[in-house]
Amino acid sequence: MSIKTAVVDGVATIEIARPEKKNALTMAMYTAMSEALDAAREDKAVRAVLITGQPGIFTSGNDIEDFMQRPPGQGSESMDSPVFRFMQSLLACDKPVVAAVTGAAIGIGTTMLLHCDFVYVSDEARLAMPFVSLGLVPEFASSLLVPQLMGHRRAAEKLLLGDPFSAEQAVECGIANAVLPASEVLPYARRMAERFNALPPGAVREAKQLMRAPQREQMLQVIRAEGEKFGKRLRSPEAMEAFQAFFQKRKPDFSAF
Ligand code: COA
Repeated sequence: MSIKTAVVDGVATIEIARPEKKNALTMAMYTAMSEALDAAREDKAVRAVLITGQPGIFTSGNDIEDFMQRPPGQGSESMDSPVFRFMQSLLACDKPVVAAVTGAAIGIGTTMLLHCDFVYVSDEARLAMPFVSLGLVPEFASSLLVPQLMGHRRAAEKLLLGDPFSAEQAVECGIANAVLPASEVLPYARRMAERFNALPPGAVREAKQLMRAPQREQMLQVIRAEGEKFGKRLRSPEAMEAFQAFFQKRKPDFSAF
């Protein structure tokens, strides 16, 4: 199974483990992560959730083969897709979620960090949201949250040009808490998650709910609007050219569009 889960010392760990495909996320993997998050939310023994990847790679984002062959449905149908369910579970998780970004975090790999509470990044990691370069649009409220975090101009570099950025830049622009040497990122993130064992869980949950509440409605609206466009764009000739170019290991050619 390419998602490994475990509950140890009050921390529910979700480990993305498909290194042969750079931890690209398939529908089955989203479902497994969604179930793990829902279970963590219900389990009284769990005080925090830790999401991590493999050395050198957090995740290369959605499996591009899946995007081509099995794109999530359009309109209201898309709200039932495994990726939507996963993000809904992440948004609904009222326990602290800590991310240990062990390496590259691309596409939804970076988007999901916007919805985590603590993000620790390996000094070797690169982050990127190359949706537009793939003929797509930003997803899961990144078009709202990224400009809010860093201002429109720096967001434009990341969301319109899809420029990758370093772990230091991720901290500087507010996506991450700290940069750590690659070997220390996971143990450090785990120690931070374990700190919640010593805190009152009811107060932690209510505080997290309160911190998220003011933006919740707006975020859900944006997620719906992005989802509609994303679903259409996945089926667009621009996206097809980008996906085929990826597998043919060449630069995409958008000159005809
Ligand atoms: N979906 C499907 N397969 C993927 C993938 C993805 N998102 N990312 C990597 N893979 C596969 C490659 O096709 C390759 O498969 P192969 O060995 O059968 O040819 C394998 O994983 C290794 O990837 P490769 O590109 O050779 O590794 P790399 O170390 O040179 O580069 C990345 C790593 C992550 C920088 C690069 O794979 C990449 O850019 N991936 C796509 C990222 C992306 O655009 N994600 C979607 C965002 S919406």
